[in-house]
Amino acid sequence: MSLLDRDRLHLWHPYTQMKTAPPPLPIVSASGVYLYTDDGRRILDGISSWWVNIHGHSHPALNAALAAQAARLEHVMFAGCTHPPAVDLADRLISLLPSGITRVFYSDNGSTAAEVAVKLAVQYWINRAEPQRRTIVALHHAYHGDTVGAMSVSEDSIFTRAFTPLLFQVERAHAPYCYRCPLGLERRSCRVDCLSDLEQTLARLGDTAAAVIVEPMLQGAGGMIVWPPEFLAGVRRLCDRFGVLLIADEVLTGFGRTGRMFACEHAEVTPDIICLSKALTAGYLPLGATCTTEAVYDAFLSDDRSRTFFHGHSFTANPLACAVALASLDLFEQDDTLARVRRLEAQLQSGLEPLRDLPIVGDVRVIGGVGAIELRDADLSPLDVARGDPEPVEGSGPRGGYLDEIGPRLAAAFLDRGLLLRPLGNVLYFMPPYVITEEETGWAIEQIKGVLQGVAIQSP
Ligand SMILES: Cc1ncc(COP(=O)(O)O)c(C=O)c1O
Repeated sequence: MSLLDRDRLHLWHPYTQMKTAPPPLPIVSASGVYLYTDDGRRILDGISSWWVNIHGHSHPALNAALAAQAARLEHVMFAGCTHPPAVDLADRLISLLPSGITRVFYSDNGSTAAEVAVKLAVQYWINRAEPQRRTIVALHHAYHGDTVGAMSVSEDSIFTRAFTPLLFQVERAHAPYCYRCPLGLERRSCRVDCLSDLEQTLARLGDTAAAVIVEPMLQGAGGMIVWPPEFLAGVRRLCDRFGVLLIADEVLTGFGRTGRMFACEHAEVTPDIICLSKALTAGYLPLGATCTTEAVYDAFLSDDRSRTFFHGHSFTANPLACAVALASLDLFEQDDTLARVRRLEAQLQSGLEPLRDLPIVGDVRVIGGVGAIELRDADLSPLDVARGDPEPVEGSGPRGGYLDEIGPRLAAAFLDRGLLLRPLGNVLYFMPPYVITEEETGWAIEQIKGVLQGVAIQSP
């Protein structure tokens, strides 16, 4: 039996309607920006394997770090034990994170990094004898993961709707989605007026608000929504004014994706809690880190053991993952990785901006190593078809007629050309590993242009 036949027999893939989805790509090896299939195809990984890969696949330095660590210590529980890779990585992270962040709590993926942040925030206020502060404020179009807490603080969408009875209530405020401004304003002339919704929400909640959680500068799964830095600075100001914690979910944006090591740097903001995962290990192994300030940490110190943060996972601070993360940070220095991302940003900007002239293109958004193109469709909410789920779900809200199927159709067209992309509904984005060359980026932009020109011709 072929790999695909055997896959079909027992496997169940994420975000996949197993009845109707096309067969998965049978990937047998990968190197640099390329994935190789068992039938000999070479495909450019245009989404960094769900946004995790940065230095390229199967990187010799990362492979060596992994092998060396495996020969020494593969894993040990992290309650009551510690080990050099976890300590070294915490040191390195603290030296890179916005100043004021001094503590690292490890977990093992992006959802748990966000889940830990929310639990820390709620217990922080309990430990500070303000238990009424328990409401989390999240933004529209947010995505923080798939565990129950992370879903609760994400946008209400087809991702979360089946689980609504399990979710806790949150308050939601406007995000600065300039292309579809919630206030109908123009970015050129507005004064980031959408921030007033958060201000009013926090004023209304008074001393019942615990924290505001945001994806700073770039809301990913919600449609690659790029923020004006003024909005992020304003969120920090409001959190200070109303005395609530700011949680920055940098699971996607951390480690250079927006052109800075951390997206909070765009507005020189230090959050109270910051969530890291994905590119933390350069896409090698699952690892999460929820990092915080001494003030938050101190609230958990007590002779009363009930104030302990009772949270942990079997694979907390896995030494293999920590060792690869350290090797990845070495590569940032050796290769001047951030300069690479800035060059990629400039090329994406100059290559994608002209696509605005295509009739099907509504908006072009570029930040760091991410280029997104939002196709015209007034009704389609990207989150309703995010991660490229091709299946319309009953009761999932308004659907765009022609564009309803556009995401999977575009994905198939790109795959025919050897480019792996996974549009978020009507938002097409390109987010390659940073090691992509100028020539490869140019080629990918040409493919995007070619496919979108074809769509424009067919469009009614
Ligand atoms: C901002 C953000 N937070 C959390 C997550 C969840 O991470 P994971 O898929 O590792 O659970 C994601 C995943 O896309 C994300 O983009």
